[in-house]
Amino acid sequence: MFAVYAAEPNPDQPLDALRVGERPDPEVPHGWVAVTVRAASLNMHDLWTLRGVGIKPDQFPMILGCDGAGELADGSPVVVHGVVGDASVYGDETLDPRRTLLTEKYQGTFAETVVVPARNVLPKPDGLSFAEAACMGTAWLTAYRMLFTRSGLRPGQSMLVQGASGGVSTALVTLGKAAGLRVLVTGRSEEKRALATRLGAHETFESGARLPEKVDAVFETVGKATWAHSMRSVKPGGTIVVSGSTSGPDPSADLQRLFFTQVRVVGSMMGTRDELASLLEFCRLTGIRPQIGTELPLADAATGFGQMLSGETAGKIVFTR
Ligand SMILES: NC(=O)c1ccc[n+]([C@@H]2O[C@H](COP(=O)([O-])OP(=O)(O)OC[C@H]3O[C@@H](n4cnc5c(N)ncnc54)[C@H](OP(=O)(O)O)[C@@H]3O)[C@@H](O)[C@H]2O)c1
Repeated sequence: MFAVYAAEPNPDQPLDALRVGERPDPEVPHGWVAVTVRAASLNMHDLWTLRGVGIKPDQFPMILGCDGAGELADGSPVVVHGVVGDASVYGDETLDPRRTLLTEKYQGTFAETVVVPARNVLPKPDGLSFAEAACMGTAWLTAYRMLFTRSGLRPGQSMLVQGASGGVSTALVTLGKAAGLRVLVTGRSEEKRALATRLGAHETFESGARLPEKVDAVFETVGKATWAHSMRSVKPGGTIVVSGSTSGPDPSADLQRLFFTQVRVVGSMMGTRDELASLLEFCRLTGIRPQIGTELPLADAATGFGQMLSGETAGKIVFTR
């Protein structure tokens, strides 16, 4: 079948490891289902995979794509949940020490067909297109869990999103606005800050700029480049929720400020099947939709990877078939 995959790990030149071509048709194990993929979205995770981060060398070649939407054999439209883990033992599959995301052990969604456990598909709401639904399983689910499960924020409180134009960032802005939070955003360019304003941000700032007020919670996916600013921007007793470190981890975590201001730093990882179901319902009820900056045929995936690598994002990058 046709697929977009990583041939081998390449830490320095990740795009050199990207292949567009044929891979074997998948087998469908007992209890698993085959989904004919109609759309899938690009995540930073796919660039990490090309670099060999979070995947064992013997797992290559690996079809990329952590999320997607498509149809089951009977034609029913579904959204893919990309976390494969045991919810029956841990209650929350993201806490299963053996949990794995699509593309770490099992082949991903940038293909004609993806095969997942039967519990890893949810009905696609009618109001979401396949392209919109394809954004839900990773970036939007991560943002949903950060905001509604991990941050402890209540409607009426304030939040800062580090980064304006990325997949997780645009999801956080849209979800935060819809939930009645005061949304502040930093962005690296005028254009990216204007995008955040269009999505509902109340105020935007240049990266690193001093804020006129401290916020109840900061949402971090950038890491080293913004960490010190996040620590300075949160109220005493406030929360920083972290789900990524695109610019690198920060070994100098400002521990003195951490204990002096009694800040809570909370990690967050993808989300559960139940959270994905709630997210889909939240989108249906509120009418919010993901910001898609680029939509390309899967065969042109290399163009989308190039955009993400160079930071030219304007929301989600989606591949369709
Ligand atoms: N833990 C999880 O479950 C999970 C799930 C999804 C993603 N993630 C992680 O979250 C991160 C973002 O993923 P994504 O798919 O949303 O990526 P993306 O679409 O490429 O977005 C990257 C974002 O990072 C910002 N950024 C990058 N470098 C920066 C710098 N030097 N200074 C300031 N801002 C910078 C960009 O801000 P501008 O808009 O201002 O350019 C942009 O908003 C990645 O590290 C990814 O691995 C984690």
